[in-house]
Parts: sequence; structure tokens; C-alpha cells
Amino acid sequence: MKSLWPASANGRRDSEALISSEWLRPTMDTQDILDVALRLASQSEIPADTTINVPARNARRALFGIDVEAADLLMAKEKGYDVVIAHHPTGGSATLDFPKVLVKHADILTRHGVPRAVADAAVREMQEEREPRAHAENYDRLPSIARLIGIGLMCIHNPCDEIGRRVMDETLRAKLKPDPRVRDAIDTLYGIPEFQAAKTRIAVRMGKIDNPLGKWAVHHGAGTNGGVPVARAAFEHGIDTVFYIHIDAGALRRLWELFGREGSKNLVVTGHVASDSIGINALVRELRKRGLRVDTYSGIVDV
Ligand SMILES: [Fe+2]
Ligand SMILES: [Fe+2]
Repeated sequence: MKSLWPASANGRRDSEALISSEWLRPTMDTQDILDVALRLASQSEIPADTTINVPARNARRALFGIDVEAADLLMAKEKGYDVVIAHHPTGGSATLDFPKVLVKHADILTRHGVPRAVADAAVREMQEEREPRAHAENYDRLPSIARLIGIGLMCIHNPCDEIGRRVMDETLRAKLKPDPRVRDAIDTLYGIPEFQAAKTRIAVRMGKIDNPLGKWAVHHGAGTNGGVPVARAAFEHGIDTVFYIHIDAGALRRLWELFGREGSKNLVVTGHVASDSIGINALVRELRKRGLRVDTYSGIVDV
């Protein structure tokens, strides 16, 4: 991170140096922004779904959104932003290598007692499903537009999701009362401001709200939801309640067939943009502390 200081040290009067307060803002390169995200997520390597598509130097103003499209880049340029930060992958290696980040599901499963071989098999199944799509993506569409416009573009996906996973996990661990039911976990999660403020509610998609919570695990921060393979591996190896941030209807139907729509196994879905916003907001606060002006849009729940 670099700073631009008033030129008074060069002998000019402060009033001359203070042409605009904007010029006194510390600046950040896209690499600085990425470093802050990695540090906040306690990550030493850049996850596969996170990348700088178009580097920006000495950025003062950043626009941060969950999904970024081509028109957004034009709008951002017109409004004077130096860099657009997306949450979801914007192209380049973040799109092509996306399936690699799914291995983080195996870490979450094994941390909750699922045998390594079972966890790895679940990840392989998910990767086989995603790899053809990732391989077929038009990976340079958005980056090429950003280059033409002349604006920085990057996506910070897994670091934000890992921060969000940790906040959910630690909130439940710290605040759940003894012998909790599913309802108690949901009430506890509503202590997180993003869940309070979002227009979506936390949903019990499988099981019952009055079921015992039992052994639980937050499966988030691994590319995307674990679909059938991760939930099945969890439920078959001692986990009673799985938390996802989203799930599609087809996967849900398959899980109902396997474990019963209102059986003893519970699938709690916390809400996509609300959950994504938890980690994003943590990063936004950290970047603002360092002097970068960050405005949010495109679904980030403002708290
Ligand atoms: Fe996310
Ligand atoms: Fe997301």
C-alpha cells in the first residue's frame, strides 16, 4: 500500500497541496487488495477461483459486487472507479480452474469426521460434473471488455466465502445452547447482521425445524454448495444437520429420496446473497480501514 502526502514537505503551502481530499487517500494496487483478502481469510495461497483479471495500480475507488457484467464495467468507468471487484468468478483462471477449489469440501468433511476416502470420492464426483462446463467457458469475455475500457477487474471468491464460513461456524459454536434443535441454530444465525437484513429467510429444505440439531457442519467456502455428493457423504457418516448457502431443486429432490423429506437428517439453507455478503462485508470494512473507497452494489447486503 502506498500513500500520497501533501506536497508541503516540498515547501509549498498546505492549502496549495490540498487540491482535493481524494488525492490524499492512500492508494492500493489490485495485488494489495488481494493480499488483504488472503490475510483476512488466513490463506497463504491464492485459491483457484480467485484472480486479478486486469491489474490496476494506485486505485483509490473500488466498486464491489457479487456478480459483475460487461455493462457494469462501463458504468464503473463512467462513475470514476479504478477497479471493479466481483465476488463470483469473472473469467481467466478463476473460471477455468474453478473445479480445483471444490477440494475444500473434502477438508470440511474430514474435519467433521467423514473418512478421507469418502470425502475425496464426493469431491471427485462434483469435479466430474463441473469440469466440462469450466472447460467450455468463454473465459476471456469480461476481462477483454475491462481491458478495452481500461478499468481494473478482479474476483475474490473463496477468501470471502472462507471468512463467511468461519463467521457462521464460530457463531454457532459460541452461542448455541445445549441440546439444540434446528430452530435454535436458525435463531442463533439470525444474530449475524446480514441474515437479519436480507430479504431472504433461512430455510429448512429437508428434515424438520423441531428436529434435534445433532452433529452439524457448515459446508460453505468450497467453490459452490456440495450438492448431493457432499450432503450424502455427511449424512451417511454421522452428520445430522448440513448447512448450505444454496442448493438447486434437482439435488434437493434427490436428497429427499435418499434421506426423507421430513426425516431425521436436516438440510438448512441460509440464503445465497445474504451468506456471500458476510465475508464480502468483512473484507470491505478492512479495505476501507486502509483508506480505499469501496462502494458496494450487485446484491451485497448492506449492514
Ligand atoms: Fe460466495
Ligand atoms: Fe455465491
